[in-house]
Amino acid sequence: MSTVVVYKSKYGSTEQYAKWIAEELGADLKSAEQTKLDDLFPYDTIIYGAGVYVGCIAGIALIADNYEQLKDKKLIVFTVGLTDPAEKSKYIDLITKKFFLDDERHRTGFSFPRST
Ligand SMILES: Cc1cc2nc3c(=O)[nH]c(=O)nc-3n(C[C@H](O)[C@H](O)[C@H](O)COP(=O)(O)O)c2cc1C
Repeated sequence: MSTVVVYKSKYGSTEQYAKWIAEELGADLKSAEQTKLDDLFPYDTIIYGAGVYVGCIAGIALIADNYEQLKDKKLIVFTVGLTDPAEKSKYIDLITKKFFLDDERHRTGFSFPRST
């Protein structure tokens, strides 16, 4: 099963987590800036990670705007932000209600604290 980790990171925190996840899984690693929708089609699983800025997941449009074309993939989204990850329900709500359909096939919502 092929997996890609796509990250959007302004200050490098998400990039570091994305690298660790990709290493652990033996997955491909791509920056969102260099990733187009077509680049995602070969993969069974897409892990998208980004920093949270003013309550929004940076660059999530790559996934959210193309949700129909990606709906047969396993989609996993993680975020990095200053908000306490213990406030888990807040993040799951943010991701599922704001950006995705309520679809149990997709795991939505784990959050890392900022690493620096
Ligand atoms: C202008 C600005 C707005 C931010 N807004 C949020 C926010 O709404 N929620 C949050 O948890 N963190 C917020 N943060 C913190 C960033 O998510 C955090 O610094 C994160 O590590 C950035 O990830 P990156 O280094 O991969 O870009 C904000 C940071 C900045 C500079």
